[in-house]
Amino acid sequence: MTAEELRKCYVGFFTERGHKEIASASLLPENDPTVLFTTAGMHPLVPYLLGEKHPLGRRLTDVQKCVRTCDIEEVGDDSHLTFFEMLGNWSLGDYFKEESISMSFDFLTKVLKVPVERLAVTAFEGDERVGKDIETAEIWKRKGLMDDQIFFYGAEENWWGPVGQTGPCGPDTEIFYDFGQDKCSDSCGPACHCGKYVEIWNNVFMEYKKEADKSLTELSQKNVDTGMGFERMLTICQGKTNVYDTELFTPVMERLQEILTEEHTEMSMHDKRVLCEHSRAMCFILGDDRHLVPSNTEQGYILRRLIRRMIRVLKKAGLDNDVLNVLADIIIEQYKDVYTELGRNGAFILEQLKKECDLFSKTLDGGLKKAESYLMELTTQMKRTVETKEKVEQSDDRQVSEEQTKIKMLSGSLAFKLYDTYGFPIEFTCELAKEKGCTVDLEGFETCFLEHQEKSRQGSEGKFKGGLADHSTQTARLHTATHLLHAALRQVLGEQVQQRGSNITAERLRFDFSYPVKVTKEELTRVEDIVNTAIAEKCDVIMTEMSVEEAKRKGAIGLFANKYGEQVKVYEIPGFSMEICGGPHAKNTGDLICFRILKEEASSAGVRRIKAVLEE
Ligand code: SER
Repeated sequence: MTAEELRKCYVGFFTERGHKEIASASLLPENDPTVLFTTAGMHPLVPYLLGEKHPLGRRLTDVQKCVRTCDIEEVGDDSHLTFFEMLGNWSLGDYFKEESISMSFDFLTKVLKVPVERLAVTAFEGDERVGKDIETAEIWKRKGLMDDQIFFYGAEENWWGPVGQTGPCGPDTEIFYDFGQDKCSDSCGPACHCGKYVEIWNNVFMEYKKEADKSLTELSQKNVDTGMGFERMLTICQGKTNVYDTELFTPVMERLQEILTEEHTEMSMHDKRVLCEHSRAMCFILGDDRHLVPSNTEQGYILRRLIRRMIRVLKKAGLDNDVLNVLADIIIEQYKDVYTELGRNGAFILEQLKKECDLFSKTLDGGLKKAESYLMELTTQMKRTVETKEKVEQSDDRQVSEEQTKIKMLSGSLAFKLYDTYGFPIEFTCELAKEKGCTVDLEGFETCFLEHQEKSRQGSEGKFKGGLADHSTQTARLHTATHLLHAALRQVLGEQVQQRGSNITAERLRFDFSYPVKVTKEELTRVEDIVNTAIAEKCDVIMTEMSVEEAKRKGAIGLFANKYGEQVKVYEIPGFSMEICGGPHAKNTGDLICFRILKEEASSAGVRRIKAVLEE
């Protein structure tokens, strides 16, 4: 079975069972500050899982492109990826456990012909909030799974969501493929990492909402959210043991091997995998229509990290950065029919990649100078101390040599400074130190690194507070203000203004749009005035469902990546704005009270950013 066949037969199976196919959403979530990237198929569907009506009904299916950065360190093993495709099907208050498990079972055993004995499943063991999910286990047994194929785990393994601090969540049943080798120990099971089991599908029974005070409330409807790891499933369908041996990676792996042979150099399998995996993730992130570029914050920083990691791998093998272009070309070519944005944005991907490579070379030069000066100081100090010691005391040799070892060591905090401030990789610092006869305090470096990680973790948790995912009135009002702002910018600056990103917290909105130069004070005042006029007119915000074609005809703005014939929601503020959008919104513009722009600044080349608030 080819990759495209697997995508088609999954979506076909569910459309035959009453599901409507929806298009993959952008990798960069709109209006949602709870995550950096779209991490699962359910993510763009949060409003509907919380009870809003979806224009296509209660059964949906899709193939969603996802990025998960939590697995970045695992990349290089057989199955973990930063970018992957997720096959998903949803019941929005329609079917529940029985039908969901039945469909998954049939798809796996009848369509993909996975033998029943190769399946293992897990269910929620229960905790103080929600009881043990016996029902799920019983359904699996009725399907023919034996007791030793069914495992119960706690919330750590079998509770999914919410993505941020609040939102839809619930117990799940995870489906694993058992490669068939002996258990590594008595306690070996699907949660074990020995390689016997690989997770392929997750069916989440989303019947709860986690509130800000951490309590669980029941949702107005019982949903099912499932997600299947496309690359992993394909690996199994093609009888392989790792994702890199599937057709998704073989073209790029083979090209890399050719380059290595031509250049008479070698690279570990781990590094080859990292290069190919990160190249693909990079192409999809840069290839997204939202035109994200590498930077030092948020998504841009992840992108930067991926690229810099690849450059390091190349450097280790003595290869030039141009290799990245060669690999990117292959990936764009391979995916551009299925993900047309990669074709559309191909030149942009290569151009940004080159820019980032050039910038990193400069950074490395700067870091190199700094590192050399630190080491120079260290060696001078070292010589001085030893000379003094030799003169002053007739100390024993051992003491001198201990002293020498200590002072020959570059401190962890300086190594971390090189890494953090100058972007100078720790491996480079170690190599350089070795050349100068010094060492690096790696333990100290690690301590600084972990401290820094903890700080940024706390920082990013802080940003999970609020957000559109909680659907507060405040975020709905800011969302409506964003539509008005978008329309007003187009009125004042022209139709070249296009949305490049939007992020809403409970306190403010942030809107990125394409525009080549700084917006003048006077233009900003005009924009503010237009929005405030719409507020003063107290217009009703009207939602209508229509086909994408009709929305286009009516002049609605928004992303038109949707599939032909698909029904969408269009939010209209008569006389001011009409946009394709999932909502939710304020009922009347009068609810917005007063709009004020706080700041206008550059976001990246050709993209401006506005931060604005609603005042009482
Ligand atoms: N949201 C669930 C997951 O990501 C199922 O799609 O695993």
